[in-house]
Amino acid sequence: MSAADQIFAMLKESSQSGAPLYLQLRKSIEEAVNRGLIGPGDALPSERDIASKADISRVTVRKAVQDLVKGGILVQRHGSGTFVAPRMERVEQSLSRLTSFTEDMARRGMVVRSAWLDRGLYAPSPDEMMVLGLSANELVARVARLRIANDTPLAIERAALSASVLPDPEAIGSSLYAALELTGNRPVRAVQRISAANLGDADARLLEVAPGVAGLHIERISYLASGKVIEFTRSIYRGDAYDFVAELRLTGPGEEIRP
Ligand code: GLP
Repeated sequence: MSAADQIFAMLKESSQSGAPLYLQLRKSIEEAVNRGLIGPGDALPSERDIASKADISRVTVRKAVQDLVKGGILVQRHGSGTFVAPRMERVEQSLSRLTSFTEDMARRGMVVRSAWLDRGLYAPSPDEMMVLGLSANELVARVARLRIANDTPLAIERAALSASVLPDPEAIGSSLYAALELTGNRPVRAVQRISAANLGDADARLLEVAPGVAGLHIERISYLASGKVIEFTRSIYRGDAYDFVAELRLTGPGEEIRP
């Protein structure tokens, strides 16, 4: 049976319910996905196909589909159509180890790749000057990437480093930390700040989720053993993909509490 037939069969089952048509259709598509009749990554039949098969208007189909995209059940890829969203296995990430994205994903057996959004040398912004300790006549190296694991985009990371540490941002390979390690500049300590964020249109499109869904804004400032700041990275992570886990211990008597 084709996907359109599966959805139509579900719709016939629910057509007695008296609920508005678009809700019935939304439920039918959801049922077809939940029962595995159409699987993650499968293309949804075109609006026109669904409308003619189920004998409902295209406006109704569009409303149901938009609702499912907002709910993360379907994803729309510009130019290529609507698909069942890939099943998201949540990544559990420790908050106590200073690891790189490449290491984190490799440890889970995931295949990592990045799409470059930007890399180059720029005049630093006031934020970058302050955090990295740069003066106005020094340059900042910016490395912005979409980080992808097993073909699912998980995060947008925008790193800034002093150009004296990374004079040629074009030359880093697949891992920033591996490149820093080669020059003895891999950070040994970092402070990470995590806050909630609703994804804007451009970020949502890159992460293949609906605009406005929940995400995590993560800022990492990393240090060398000397105490010098080496990295200032601002990232947006998909909220449906990450669990950050921290181990908490009771502080012993007389033990100092450090930030
Ligand atoms: C993590 C951190 C980033 C860091 C990156 C390096 O994702 N949040 O601050 O820049 O790892 O990863 P890689 O070495 O894979 O480029």
